Amino acid sequence: MCGIVGVIGSTSTTDILLTGLKRLEYRGYDSAGLYVNDQSGHDYLVKTVGKISQLEAALTSDVQGTVGIAHTRWATHGQPSVANAHPQFSDSKRFYLVHNGVLNNYHQLRSDYLSDVDFASQTDTEVIVQLVAHFVEHDDMSTFAAFQKTLQLLDGSYAILLVDQEQPDQIFVGKNKSPLLIGIGANFNLVSSDALATYDQTEDYLELHDQEMAVVRQDDVKIYNLDGQLQQREMTQITIDHSAVSKGSYPTFMLKEIDEQPVVMRRIGQEYFDDHRQAIIDPELLNALSHTDRVYFVAAGTSYHASLVGKRLFESYTKIPTEVGVASEFGYHWPILSEKPFFIFLSQSGETADSRQVLVEAKRRHLPVLVITNSANSTLAREANYTLLLHAGPEIAVASTKAYTAQIAVEATLAKALGEKLGIKAAQNFDLLTQLGLAANGMETLVSEKETWSQLAENYLSGINDAFYIGRGVDYDVSLEAALKLKEISYVHTEGFAAGELKHGTIALIEPGIPVIAFITEKSTAAHTRGNVQEVVARGAKVLVIANQDCQEVQDQIILPTLATELMPLLTGVCGQLLAYYATLQRGLNVDQPRNLAKSVTVE
Ligand code: M6R
Repeated sequence: MCGIVGVIGSTSTTDILLTGLKRLEYRGYDSAGLYVNDQSGHDYLVKTVGKISQLEAALTSDVQGTVGIAHTRWATHGQPSVANAHPQFSDSKRFYLVHNGVLNNYHQLRSDYLSDVDFASQTDTEVIVQLVAHFVEHDDMSTFAAFQKTLQLLDGSYAILLVDQEQPDQIFVGKNKSPLLIGIGANFNLVSSDALATYDQTEDYLELHDQEMAVVRQDDVKIYNLDGQLQQREMTQITIDHSAVSKGSYPTFMLKEIDEQPVVMRRIGQEYFDDHRQAIIDPELLNALSHTDRVYFVAAGTSYHASLVGKRLFESYTKIPTEVGVASEFGYHWPILSEKPFFIFLSQSGETADSRQVLVEAKRRHLPVLVITNSANSTLAREANYTLLLHAGPEIAVASTKAYTAQIAVEATLAKALGEKLGIKAAQNFDLLTQLGLAANGMETLVSEKETWSQLAENYLSGINDAFYIGRGVDYDVSLEAALKLKEISYVHTEGFAAGELKHGTIALIEPGIPVIAFITEKSTAAHTRGNVQEVVARGAKVLVIANQDCQEVQDQIILPTLATELMPLLTGVCGQLLAYYATLQRGLNVDQPRNLAKSVTVE
């Protein structure tokens, strides 16, 4: 969601800005723009709607400057248009600014300070740049003081870069809730919302904290709190494997990431188990968890679906009561907590604003917090008491795939280690390392059968407007995830249902030809789900059954190896991903960057 890159140096910054924006494309955006200034009187502002390639095409050879700021915009306030794209600029055209985040009080600020200013856009962002200009041009403040005062007035989330045309030897930077890093280069410095944008420029970064501002020059960076006091900051090293962020020979990132899952399973086995097949988890974390009377998982989207599986793993192997909350709900409706709650946040990106707001409140209440994430340097990872990494490698496609299965594998590892510590027999008997190996082998078979999945997608999902996934227990959890995968990239209206709930209303939607995909992997409920399958078949549904060996029947289309009940989503989840992938490809849609969606959802 929205990306920012800024650079200040002694040579042209245009290429670094463009390359950075291209690397942030995966986060989702609908327009883009940049402002460069050569620090000797020439500056250029270029903005376009659509892809970065359109911005690139609009850049003439003279668009060069030693200081520059660039942005990809994902529309919140105002439609995607050139006027609403960033950089936004002041009426006087002296100040240029890019912003990630959302302001809550922009109406108020506009009426308090800017009632006589003509606004050129519908964005909340424009208020920020007009305010800075107002304080400089009307109240005679320095740009530093005007920027500081503006930040003090803002209520909301922001990562901001500002360039003053009259002092183009510095970039003014502000941050609250939205991620922002300052990169230190040789004879240049940069700012970006994600180290992925600039990984080939530097590995040395300074992290800006909430409610801080900075002044970044070619050879100097100064960080201040909003009272203007200088802050000290240690350098952080962020290394990104270059090969992991390219598609290689794959046509899409999503297919590459689906295919990487067997490797990720084995990597998790290596990272979290020692030579004696013992799970290795930070003893302090296990100790803290062993004293809890209730675990609360909080997450969004696919990570929420992985948390549902996490609850089953925790309750089976640790016997600790466990609850799961959707982050965007939990934050506004906190349940009555147990006496010794322990919070676990699942987030691939580690930047999801909905999850973060719950985390911030949990920390305020002095509750212990673990974050399970794919991103070691993310905001959530930094703010948690404990972190477990997914080791899945960068996930670029908007649809989460390998992070989902990695989340389940890491949850299982934690549940096993904790259950063993607590003396729970089920955990002692749980040979997770072998199970992860079996899961990896099963995944390998699934991803090698691409023709089959493409054919199934064509047979069941072509030309349809609605689809249903059904299952019971953990098969219901995975139905929710498979439905999310299909709807978010193919735009087919898809729902995941608890199979037994069908007859309580949803079955009214079943019409001849509608696809119903049933997951049947749990022996104890298989017969009941088979009954539900018969009910929809009787009403003309086209049913595709994905079962495991324990539950298979001769007419089933896909038979999976049997894993521990709670680990079946490691395989059924991949089936849902492959069906969604091919259904989308066959519709000629952009698999990696579906409409309206962002990879990293950094606004509440
Ligand atoms: O980075 P997070 O795991 O916190 O992201 C949560 C959701 O935004 C994410 O899982 C989203 O639902 C994906 N697009 C699903 O494929």
